[in-house]
Amino acid sequence: MPLDGRELVLGVTGSIAAYKAVVLLRELTRQGARVTVCLTEHARRFVGDLTFRTLSGRPVLTDLFDPRSDEAVEHVALAERAAAVVVAPATANVLAKAAHGIADDFLTTVLLAARGPVLMAPAMDGGMWEHPAVMANVAVLRQRGVTVMEPEAGPLASGLSGRGRLPEPETIVEALVALLSPRDLAGERVLVTAGPTREAIDPVRYISNRSSGKMGFQLAAAALRRGAAVTLVSGPTALRPPSGAVFVPIETAEEMREAVLQHAAAATIVIKAAAVGDYRVKRPAATKIKGKQDLTLDLTPNPDILAEVAARRSGATFIVGFAAETHDVAAHARGKLESKGVDLLVANDVSRAGIGFDADDNEVLLIDRWGGSRALPKMSKAAVADEILSAVLALRARAVPARR
Ligand code: CTP
Repeated sequence: MPLDGRELVLGVTGSIAAYKAVVLLRELTRQGARVTVCLTEHARRFVGDLTFRTLSGRPVLTDLFDPRSDEAVEHVALAERAAAVVVAPATANVLAKAAHGIADDFLTTVLLAARGPVLMAPAMDGGMWEHPAVMANVAVLRQRGVTVMEPEAGPLASGLSGRGRLPEPETIVEALVALLSPRDLAGERVLVTAGPTREAIDPVRYISNRSSGKMGFQLAAAALRRGAAVTLVSGPTALRPPSGAVFVPIETAEEMREAVLQHAAAATIVIKAAAVGDYRVKRPAATKIKGKQDLTLDLTPNPDILAEVAARRSGATFIVGFAAETHDVAAHARGKLESKGVDLLVANDVSRAGIGFDADDNEVLLIDRWGGSRALPKMSKAAVADEILSAVLALRARAVPARR
């Protein structure tokens, strides 16, 4: 997990949204981060120390001069140790202090001593976000390299409506993970396919498969985090496309083929995680099929999109395929690597419970066309996604000079 073992400082300031910082803290610790919470005096009016102390398992820091707190005298060490400082919610007041280098409590002092990235998630009532003073402070902070998120629009605590709501904790975590990730895919254009395809039998029925799209969506999210421009072509899933990706929803294999061929030409890396239906119904019925008698469906093979992309590619496009197997995984995967002409093949055993189709984890074998093969242990699909992207970079670094 990207936050595993990371030392973080979570600063909470005096906004009604301070209660959401509790949810944020829980999520950060769930993802393995070790978090020290700094509350401002104003924040303590909204949420008590005890909640944060219990969830973080550490003392909560407010006062620079608290003689009971060792950390209070060690604020510089704490700020230096932290992989990142997150301020959520960040009021107009703390943005102003940070922009001007004012350090009159624990949190603002930590902000001056911080060495790592700083992420601020603003929350403020109607109209304040648009005030020229706030805008100017935000501009100063951004220019200095601080990531100031955009507050969300919607109903505000005062009853007004507007831009000023704290971004959802999930969105703050995403932004933090992106901030802490290496940007080793900057400049790359990654095309990912995901999910199942659906082939119509009649207007209400279809043939599909058990793919959830999780692996492909994690690949798209990981590539975005690492700085790539990402296009995600996906069949129907229950997942939310990662923000920042160009999302192309499709249903049938033929629609996927069209979308992929259109976007593949511009891509530097193509990753085909989709479970494309091998067959479609030759002549789908125009109206709902009625009756209780036996029914035979005439099926015809779908085009093999991966093989076609590989055959049409320009020399510089790196192509990753997947293989879903139920037996003799390595042998079948090696066969697919060669027959489809891909650079890297990710093979998984879809007959095993808890990995592969519809699971959150995966255990895959990476086989490349230069003869390498590596079995990865069982891990989350997010971690598998990072492994695949790192393998692509490593293989390409070796292969590109040879191709020229
Ligand atoms: N694939 C594709 N177009 C198809 C079928 C598969 O692009 N019509 C791609 C998948 O996205 C995946 C790879 O080919 O990257 C292998 O898919 P898989 O379902 O494992 O293999 P098949 O080619 O369908 O072979 P088989 O059904 O014989 O295992």
